[in-house]
Amino acid sequence: MNENKNIIIGCDHAGYEYKCRLITRLELLGYSVTDVGTYSSESCDYPIPVHALCKKIQNGEFNRGILICGTGIGVSIAANKHKGIRAAVCSDDFSAEMTRKHNDANVLCMGARVLEFTKVCELTDIFLKTEALDEDRHLRRLRMISELEDGTFDDKKYE
Ligand code: RB5
Repeated sequence: MNENKNIIIGCDHAGYEYKCRLITRLELLGYSVTDVGTYSSESCDYPIPVHALCKKIQNGEFNRGILICGTGIGVSIAANKHKGIRAAVCSDDFSAEMTRKHNDANVLCMGARVLEFTKVCELTDIFLKTEALDEDRHLRRLRMISELEDGTFDDKKYE
């Protein structure tokens, strides 16, 4: 169980309505939610809220984030450019569970033009309640991802 009830959330214009509804629901469930924008359904450039959210995960203020855009894809691509961010676009329950268990994903990305709001709520619940598996093979793969980020991934070592 994720005991940390502080989470951070962001969106672009396409995700704005769902984000507002999700914040209301999460607060009713006892979460403290920090919103990095965007703050209206006026067209915006999603890398801006994505960067604001990722910085606050990178500096340790938050350990889980949620991003919503039209498809979930743009925000995930932008988020994954940040060191230490493992952002996963999910549309189904199994992926939301496995990306926590196997990938230790720290950002859940969803598409407001893809999913019903009830599915967004279900995926969020699964993502927030599922812990990463403390198993060697997953930890090893996460270390390799860090090496890819750092440029220290040594092909020869893994041949
Ligand atoms: C905005 O129109 C849309 O491109 C954006 O929300 C997102 O789906 C990008 O991946």
